[in-house]
Amino acid sequence: MMHEPLLAINQVSVSYGAIIALHNVSLTVNHKEIVALIGANGAGKSTLLMTIFAQPRLKKGEILYQGKPIHHLETYQIAKQGIAISPERRRIFVKMTTQENLLMGAYTKPKDDIKRNLAKVYDLFPILAARQNQRAGTLSGGEQQMLAMGRALMSSPTLFLLDEPSLGLAPQIVNQLFRILKEIAQMGTTILLVEQNAYHALMLADRAYVLVNGQIQLTGSGQTLLADPQIQAAYLGASA
Ligand SMILES: Nc1ncnc2c1ncn2[C@@H]1O[C@H](COP(=O)(O)OP(=O)(O)OP(=O)(O)O)[C@@H](O)[C@H]1O
Ligand SMILES: [Mg+2]
Repeated sequence: MMHEPLLAINQVSVSYGAIIALHNVSLTVNHKEIVALIGANGAGKSTLLMTIFAQPRLKKGEILYQGKPIHHLETYQIAKQGIAISPERRRIFVKMTTQENLLMGAYTKPKDDIKRNLAKVYDLFPILAARQNQRAGTLSGGEQQMLAMGRALMSSPTLFLLDEPSLGLAPQIVNQLFRILKEIAQMGTTILLVEQNAYHALMLADRAYVLVNGQIQLTGSGQTLLADPQIQAAYLGASA
C-alpha cells in the first residue's frame, strides 16, 4: 500500500463558469516527498490546491488520497483525513492573538495533542512564541506567514499544502522560511508547495510540475527543471 502515491490527482478539470481553470491535470505526491507546482499568475496553482479541498469542486477526473477517492467528500471531511493548507494571502484572523490563531488550526484535536502541537510549532517558529499574546494583525508579513504555516501544522497533517509562502517577503525571510520548510519535511511531513518563486521552490523540491494556462506543461526533478533552459528563461530570470 505504501507504493501508491499519498495523493493522486488524475485528469482533473475545473472551471469557474465559462472559465476553464484546470484542464486534464494529473499530478502525484509520494509519501514524504516535497513536490512543487510552479507557474505564472493565473496559471491555476491556487485552484489546484483548493480543488483538493473541494473548493471549487472538480468537473472531471478524480483525486485519490491514500488510494481512496476524496473528491466527493465535504471540505471538513477532507481536512480530517490529515490534509492541511497554509492558504494564499495567509487568511489569518487579525483581531485574534497569535496563539488564538494557532488554536484555530487544531480545534478538533484532543487536548494533549493541542499542547504537544503548540509546543512543536513554537519550537519551529520561536518568534511566534515571543508574540503569542500579540494581535495577529500587528505581526510583520514574515511573522504572519509563519503564523499561517504554524496554524496548518497545528493539526499535525500528513500532507501539508502551501500556497505562495514567499509572497511579498524580503529575501532573508524567504530563505528562513524555506529552511524551516525543509525541517518540516525532514520530520516526515509530505509537502505540496505552490510558488511563483521558482528558484526557491525548485531548490527545495524533490519533484516539480510546471502549470501553464491550467495545464501541466513539464514535470521532472527539482534539479532537472532548475537546469532546463526553457524554465530558466521563463521563470528564473535574475535569480538563476
Ligand atoms: N473564484 C473565481 N471565479 C472566477 N474565476 C476565478 C476564480 N478564482 C480564480 N479564477 C480564475 O482562474 C484562473 C486561475 O486562477 P488561480 O488563482 O488558480 O491562479 P494562480 O496560478 O494561483 O495565480 P496567482 O499566481 O496570481 O495566485 C485565473 O484565470 C483566475 O482569474
Ligand atoms: Mg494563486
